[in-house]
Amino acid sequence: MSKESPKKVIMVAVVTCLVCSVLVASATVALRPAQERNKALETKKNILQAAGIYTEGMDIDKAFTQVEPRLVDLESGTFSDGDPSRFNAIKASKDSSTNYQIPANLDIAKIRQRAKQALIYLVKKDDQIETVILPIYGKGLWSTLYGFVALAADGNQVKGLTFYEHGETPGLGGEVDNPRWKAQWPGKAIFDGKGNLAVKVDKGTVSPDSPMAVHHVDGLGGATLTTRGVNNLIRYWMGDNGYGPLLKSFKKQGA
Ligand SMILES: Cc1cc2nc3c(=O)[nH]c(=O)nc-3n(C[C@H](O)[C@H](O)[C@H](O)COP(=O)(O)O)c2cc1C
Repeated sequence: MSKESPKKVIMVAVVTCLVCSVLVASATVALRPAQERNKALETKKNILQAAGIYTEGMDIDKAFTQVEPRLVDLESGTFSDGDPSRFNAIKASKDSSTNYQIPANLDIAKIRQRAKQALIYLVKKDDQIETVILPIYGKGLWSTLYGFVALAADGNQVKGLTFYEHGETPGLGGEVDNPRWKAQWPGKAIFDGKGNLAVKVDKGTVSPDSPMAVHHVDGLGGATLTTRGVNNLIRYWMGDNGYGPLLKSFKKQGA
């Protein structure tokens, strides 16, 4: 076989491809546990951030020992059995035995279906619930935004809100990640004095003199559609078809 014979060139190319694919496949398999651990750690960090107890450089696993994952049946608003560590809300939302089809007129978050159960997180002190952290998600302009909202034990007062995944435009819809925008959330009340859903992400800036200022948050400049999406998703999940029944039970217990 001459040095540059076509056969030799093809053989070298095939062997190179094989070696490279084995290397890439091995790296993918070898790195998977580390990736999964990092993902789990990132979720914990976001939950702590929403609850307002995250500080830079803290031992996340240690801090998370004060957080108790619980499964909730959304329709009844009661805690349900099952292993929280095995629950995946997105998977459950796609399985006809564990999901609920949201009627179109109620589907303001534009998610079509959701799991019947939700995995929520409780932060307790001396056995008393201090903070409830609830996963929320819904459509923005380009993407589905996934996040957490943390409420005080009255099921009404917001402690924090954070999105950990979305594909909105940096500088426009992506301003949901801006700490200045997020800083508006702590202290807002989800419900008014009569128990009606009152939280809202406004189109513009909320006047501090407005009687609704305690419920409303400024919209995102130049990102009307992301603003509308965030407003719809928070109102869906806080409403009767989302965590409403659970939040009412917290209120009743005066927890
Ligand atoms: C490249 C590009 C990216 C955009 N990204 C977003 C976005 O992430 N969220 C959003 O609501 N609007 C985004 N917009 C703007 C919307 O298309 C739309 O113009 C805007 O929501 C209307 O806002 P306004 O009423 O303040 O003009 C983007 C526009 C362009 C050209």
